[in-house]
Amino acid sequence: MAVKLFSPYTIKGVTFKNRIVMAPMCMYSSHNGDGHIQNWHRTHYTTRAVGQVGLIIVEATAVTPQGRISPQDLGIWSDEHIEGFQELVGLMKEHGAKTGIQLAHAGRKAILEGEIIAPSALAFNEKSKTPKEMTKADIEETVEAFKKGAERAAKAGFDVIELHGAHGYLLNEFLSPLSNKRSDEYGGSAENRYRILHEVIDAVKTVWNGPLFVRVSAHDYHEEGLTAEDYIVFAKWMKEQGVDLIDVSSGSVVPAHINAYPGYQVKYSETIKNGADIPTGAVGLITSPIQAEEILQNDRADLVFLARELLRDPYWPRTAAKELGVSLEGPKQYQRGWI
Ligand SMILES: Cc1cc2nc3c(=O)[nH]c(=O)nc-3n(C[C@H](O)[C@H](O)[C@H](O)COP(=O)(O)O)c2cc1C
Repeated sequence: MAVKLFSPYTIKGVTFKNRIVMAPMCMYSSHNGDGHIQNWHRTHYTTRAVGQVGLIIVEATAVTPQGRISPQDLGIWSDEHIEGFQELVGLMKEHGAKTGIQLAHAGRKAILEGEIIAPSALAFNEKSKTPKEMTKADIEETVEAFKKGAERAAKAGFDVIELHGAHGYLLNEFLSPLSNKRSDEYGGSAENRYRILHEVIDAVKTVWNGPLFVRVSAHDYHEEGLTAEDYIVFAKWMKEQGVDLIDVSSGSVVPAHINAYPGYQVKYSETIKNGADIPTGAVGLITSPIQAEEILQNDRADLVFLARELLRDPYWPRTAAKELGVSLEGPKQYQRGWI
């Protein structure tokens, strides 16, 4: 059997050496509250590059200070952030990893002092702050902030940009009718709820011609919410706009119970991949090499994204290669212990 997990994958001339992607994971470690890269990030991300992960996507990185989940989030709202990312990208690339960054705005899920903003003045739950309903000027500024963030990510040398359109953060809040009650052209119909993402993608594409991913929450787990079928429509629009891959997650737009079992979101990846004829990434409780291989061999996704398993085992690609009978080159310094 030709093992697909270790076959390369190319998008827009960028080749990942295997199909293993490190999913974005907030480290909340920018401890000076200024969005800058710290030693923790240098160690954490570089370790997964040493571990031979094909593509490493750096955690949700805020495009405005107000768009952070917490004061310790990474940020890319200023030119001063570029240098830290440039260094981080260089460290990861030394070990052959391709590098991505997730550009994000937390919307109503920001846990910050001061005003927070969202499509509608609706709090996420009884414990969270009520956001201010965004004006057209706020929307324009946010679109511009994503564009500037992408421009800075390009300067830092990232290979991939992923837009965070999932987990109930700002872009997801616009997409879902549960959190978007606007009566202007940014609310109501699917086309209107998609409008801000449409504008962000167009704006980003004026400064970025590399691989562009969008992470979505393909199920709201609520009877009046969206399902993967609704996301087929959005994915078709994204494809028309030149998005290269949909990273398919789910939930968190409203509080809801999620029955999370191994591979519980893979079916949404499959639905979107087939329905919109677009490459996808599958994520969520993917932990074993056989499971990852099954997803790829059955064309249920083009890439597998791992989050927590890579926290437990930063050398998971080596673990997987051993189990799948593939010989995987490791760092030459480790040769005596790698096999
Ligand atoms: C510590 C931690 C931080 C996370 N931060 C982010 C994030 O910044 N952006 C995002 O889209 N998802 C984030 N997630 C979700 C993961 O990317 C992933 O979708 C989820 O954990 C399910 O995958 P897993 O079962 O492999 O962990 C985070 C998850 C964890 C455990």
